[in-house]
Amino acid sequence: MDFSGEYTTFKREELMQKVQMHMSERRFKHVLGVEETAIALAAKYGASEEKASIAALTHDYAKERPNEEFEMIILRDGYDQDLLNYGNAIWHGLVGASMVQRELGINDEEILEAIRLHTTGGAKMSLLDKIIYVADYIEPGRDFPGVKEARELALVDLDEAVAYETKHTLQHLIEKEQKIYPKTIETYNYWVVGKAAQINP
Ligand SMILES: [Fe+2]
Ligand SMILES: [Fe+2]
Repeated sequence: MDFSGEYTTFKREELMQKVQMHMSERRFKHVLGVEETAIALAAKYGASEEKASIAALTHDYAKERPNEEFEMIILRDGYDQDLLNYGNAIWHGLVGASMVQRELGINDEEILEAIRLHTTGGAKMSLLDKIIYVADYIEPGRDFPGVKEARELALVDLDEAVAYETKHTLQHLIEKEQKIYPKTIETYNYWVVGKAAQINP
């Protein structure tokens, strides 16, 4: 796909190169898988395919940065200091978006928010947020029990796919006795419990 120049001054090939420079071969392959999936979901659900491509290409841009860099930015830039109690899994999205903005010059708030929310989700998610969140989970390189169901749901109902992913991610974290970032619980309460609660208060 050719970019319009509206959201980034880079051509797609240039943006791909910038991203590739910051990550392993394996992760870059994942990024391309997320991009392919995100563009397909954008076409299906009527979102901007260009924004889906840019957000997907940059969503893991900061994933391989050292912890010290994230900690420095969290201390310096007015983030909730509770973030310091978490790690790369949370930081690379929520804080990584600021690196995408600063280093790649991408200022579109919708794209940046999709990057911020790609790991935790949120109670409030735009169509693009949902597309990146789900594409990250179901891209062709993913292989885990349940990925087939997640892919099928994504083709039928994006909100159901968000709910499925949220529930299974949370289950996985609990199984491994990992710390849960509060926003992930917010996402669960809204997308997994919320709708049922409305029908059955
Ligand atoms: Fe990520
Ligand atoms: Fe990812």
